[in-house]
Amino acid sequence: MILALSLSVLSCNDDPIVDPPSSGIDHIDLTDIDWSPTAFEVDNIPGFPPLISPADNPLTEEGIQLGRHLFYDPILSVDSTMSCASCHNLDLAFTDGKAFSVGVDGLSTPRSSMSLLNIGYNYRGLFWDGRVRTLEEQALLPIEDEIELHHSWTEVISDLQVHPEYPTLFRKAFGIDHTGQITKDLAAKAIAQFERIIISGGNSKYNKVIYDNTQAFTDQEDHGFDLFIDAGDSDLVDAECSHCHHGGLFMGDDFANNGLDSTADFTNLLDLGRGGVTGFEVDMAKFKAPTLRNISLTGPYMHDGRFATLDEVIEHYNSGGMPSPTKDQNIRPLGLSEYDKQSLRVFLETLTDTTYKYPELVTNPH
Ligand code: HEC
Ligand code: HEC
Repeated sequence: MILALSLSVLSCNDDPIVDPPSSGIDHIDLTDIDWSPTAFEVDNIPGFPPLISPADNPLTEEGIQLGRHLFYDPILSVDSTMSCASCHNLDLAFTDGKAFSVGVDGLSTPRSSMSLLNIGYNYRGLFWDGRVRTLEEQALLPIEDEIELHHSWTEVISDLQVHPEYPTLFRKAFGIDHTGQITKDLAAKAIAQFERIIISGGNSKYNKVIYDNTQAFTDQEDHGFDLFIDAGDSDLVDAECSHCHHGGLFMGDDFANNGLDSTADFTNLLDLGRGGVTGFEVDMAKFKAPTLRNISLTGPYMHDGRFATLDEVIEHYNSGGMPSPTKDQNIRPLGLSEYDKQSLRVFLETLTDTTYKYPELVTNPH
């Protein structure tokens, strides 16, 4: 249904958009093109919170298709070489597998790219420091970011207005009357819609064990789970993980300092994290505790990609981390045995799902 729809979008291109401009200026009338958007309902994944779309940007099949085209299109970068997908790559769980990404001018980003899997369920601010609230606001930024796509929205919009396909896609998604109504805000809305359907997790072993009851944990996975959630067994070490990675998404609802860097007064830190946004001492060196869903696919880890493997991450937590005035009290030497550490890793691997809920919608359409 959806594929057929996107084909029909493309096949009716040359017809209406070569109509003469309606207003005497450059804008091309689009009102001959049918506008009847189809609402897109996302079925919830067990354990995930409900997916919320803002009231002024409900999901539609046509909006998602437009966002998908934009997300994968190098038209968004200054030299037409990069798209969002360059740093958020489908084959790498929508991240790029690097500690730092390289933008259009060959410059490195100051932080590690983030996976966009299940990003629509993220309610606690976007980016490592939570500085942006919504996907709609975020999608405006990479285009003009000097390190990332280094382009200008004015030029992107001009290119989209005369493009052979985009005017039709914008009309079908948002009912615009002529190409002059193509705006960066509509482009960002469409990209946000596309991002909201990048969903994965229902086919993880964890879900099959906990929600579907169709599989069972191995003894070692079960042990790792108990360590992770602090099962309350007094013989068991509490690895403290679930204080900061909790709920069905194993995600934090606050920013935390998990002890990555030694600092007395933060002056030696390269990245102040949340503190760089608020300016408050109590927020210094704190970062978002990301979802651990699909974590085995998204290394290297942490905001600067300093750990290549999950074993290194677990070793870090076991060590108790570095001293810092804002370090969380749950980051302390854990005294895990080798078996405990491996068990945590195999448990984290049960959160892996290499399938997508909407596989036909997440691939590159170009
Ligand atoms: C050059 C690489 C690069 C490109 C191109 C890029 N991103 Fe990113 N993206 C990053 C990095 C790095 C971060 C983390 C930045 C930070 O925390 O300061 C990020 C973070 C994000 C986040 C926040 C995720 C979260 O979990 O909070 C979203 C959403 C996102 N990017 C979407 C996009 C979209 C949409 C585009 C295209 C319009 C795009 N990105 C283009 C590198 C890139
Ligand atoms: C005090 C809160 C806290 C506790 C406890 C905690 N974490 Fe984290 N975790 C974080 C924060 C914050 C980050 C991101 C830090 C950064 O990048 O600067 C993070 C990052 C991670 C990452 C890397 C995520 C990514 O996308 O790069 C993994 C994996 C992880 N934690 C696993 C665990 C495990 C396993 C435990 C238990 C042994 C644990 N965490 C305990 C707060 C915590």
